[in-house]
Amino acid sequence: MARVTQLGYVGLGVSNVEEWEHFATDLLGLESNGVDADGNLSFRMDENSHRFIIQPTGKDDLEFVGWQVTDEQALREMAEQLQQAGIEVADGTDEENKSRRVEGMIKFEDPDGTATEIFYGPPISFDRPFNSPRAIGFVTGEQGLGHVVLHVEDLDRTVKFYRDVLGMKISDFIRNLAFFHCNPRHHSLALIEAKVPKKLNHFMIQTQTMNDVGTTYDMVLDQGLPLTRGLGRHTNDHMTSFYMQTPSGFNVEYGWGARTVDDATWQVQRHEKGSIWGHRNVTPVSAK
Ligand SMILES: [Fe+2]
Repeated sequence: MARVTQLGYVGLGVSNVEEWEHFATDLLGLESNGVDADGNLSFRMDENSHRFIIQPTGKDDLEFVGWQVTDEQALREMAEQLQQAGIEVADGTDEENKSRRVEGMIKFEDPDGTATEIFYGPPISFDRPFNSPRAIGFVTGEQGLGHVVLHVEDLDRTVKFYRDVLGMKISDFIRNLAFFHCNPRHHSLALIEAKVPKKLNHFMIQTQTMNDVGTTYDMVLDQGLPLTRGLGRHTNDHMTSFYMQTPSGFNVEYGWGARTVDDATWQVQRHEKGSIWGHRNVTPVSAK
């Protein structure tokens, strides 16, 4: 079967584009590409031309998730797998492919209604190296941009979809959460069974050094920014990280030092707790 290989890009619908640009560049250390002809603001974090697409929809939630596959043949096989699972699939139009800057793309909704795109052929810009405004380097490459954690209504149904149709593998479980990998990153996706208004619980980006997490943590504290969970280390991926609220109300996890998964030896586990230490709730998440 065809399988997705990495979390390639994430689309966010926001109400305040300028605030997002400031937040993503000056705090997170991403590089802004500015707003393109389609009205999309995009950010880089590595040699890929873009990893985040910010659209001024006012939704303040996830707009779409882009999963990568190896090539056109895998894309066609994936379309067939989706159709066999009863999912309505549309090919990306020339304009849509151009807007996402990919060679080819299919679009559909996952069983929980999340707008999902599968693509191949992202443009790589080695000629214009990634230039973080904070000189921060991120762990990406075959591990993709990081991870997203989504709220779903029916965990069993959605777990089956990502495992049996998109070909992702379960890493482990914590309470009402399921974690999936599709490359050595411990999880590129996690699902939480919860009935809340926002689809996106948080996205995670991983720095190459612990100092980048520490200095960003200091900036959040010094500037009185809405920290939501203090520094801590997770039980399952061993990530040392903290969580803060984005300008759209959902969280970003900023982390370092996660372990990777080797499918030859990995065994699924269930953890009682999410953190070995820390990750204390320090500020209630606003109702935004
Ligand atoms: Fe996370």
